[in-house]
Amino acid sequence: MSEAASAAPRPPVRLRADVLAVPPYRQGAAPTRPGFKLSSNENPFPPLQAVVDVLSDPAAVNRYAAAAMPELRAALAAEFGVSLDGVHLAAGSVAILFQLVAAAAAPGDEVLHAWPSFEAYPSLGLSSGAVSVPVPLTADAEHDLDAMADAITERTRIVLLCTPNNPTGPTIRRADFERFMQRVPADTLVVLDEAYREFVTDPEAVRGEEVLANHPNLVVLRTFSKAYGLAGLRIGYAVGAPAILAAAQVTAIPLSVTGVAEAAALASLQPSARAELAARIEVLVARRAELVAGLRELGLAIPEAQGNFVWIPEGPGGVESAAALAAAFAAEGTLVRPFPGAGVRITVAEAESLPVVIGIVREFLAAG
Ligand SMILES: Cc1ncc(COP(=O)(O)O)c(C=O)c1O
Repeated sequence: MSEAASAAPRPPVRLRADVLAVPPYRQGAAPTRPGFKLSSNENPFPPLQAVVDVLSDPAAVNRYAAAAMPELRAALAAEFGVSLDGVHLAAGSVAILFQLVAAAAAPGDEVLHAWPSFEAYPSLGLSSGAVSVPVPLTADAEHDLDAMADAITERTRIVLLCTPNNPTGPTIRRADFERFMQRVPADTLVVLDEAYREFVTDPEAVRGEEVLANHPNLVVLRTFSKAYGLAGLRIGYAVGAPAILAAAQVTAIPLSVTGVAEAAALASLQPSARAELAARIEVLVARRAELVAGLRELGLAIPEAQGNFVWIPEGPGGVESAAALAAAFAAEGTLVRPFPGAGVRITVAEAESLPVVIGIVREFLAAG
């Protein structure tokens, strides 16, 4: 039993031992001085004007939303050139990850994913008894697709690909993706998690809408949380084969997507909102380049950053201790996300946060 689990009070009823063995999620300690929150890959901008307009309209919150949400699904389906039943909405794309794992993986089945990657991946199978199979990234902090293909077994039911990879930043290139898909059994579900897709500038990166039609076993995940800045409203979506999405619907908690979230997502897709969104993305991409350049000038080997975050590795080319660097940030009032033993992820956010980040890292390196 882990230290965290043994320190927890004993429940007064019989609960599953495998659940009790896992420490619950804990947010990082609050900083002691005012600073920036660069730990959750959130968008620093206020909501788009079209979103503000719908949020200020008193919604009928005494009613459940219409669960099928045909207008929003139709708008998203048109973008991908799929039918309405090829789009599935949920209260955040993380909810769809849980749904798909629950739909695909029974006790003892395997969920294959790169590591480090999105922190939720290792626990997706917990409630269904599926087993997480993490495959280490390459030295360049990219998915090791050959090793992942080698790790596929009889029990692999779902493969999670994160592009660009949270927390390290590189995308999966289209040619590498296609080669990988050749090695995945046609009856094994592959999820392309593109939570940060709108920030991608690499022309060689795989793009869900370009490859979906060729792979009936592929589901593409997108979210309104990151570039669109609707993290607090909780709305994301999947695009793929209707029969796969119908199974996800079976395992979903009903009525989780609110009408407010639906209205905000729809407003975000209006032409005026798109122009505003594109301008914001451009600003964040420029800040990302500035941050990467500044950190590389300090001698750090920063991997290709294609999301709204940058990665400082622990070890050769990086810092000696990710935990110590995160503590140095916290002491200055700024939160970043440490992955002990692997590196530190820093969100690209307010313009004023850039010199603060560079300054803290410079001092940290000088002191070490
Ligand atoms: C790679 C990746 N996928 C999915 C999510 C979940 O996003 P949401 O549930 O807000 O749509 C995140 C959030 O950080 C993420 O980094």
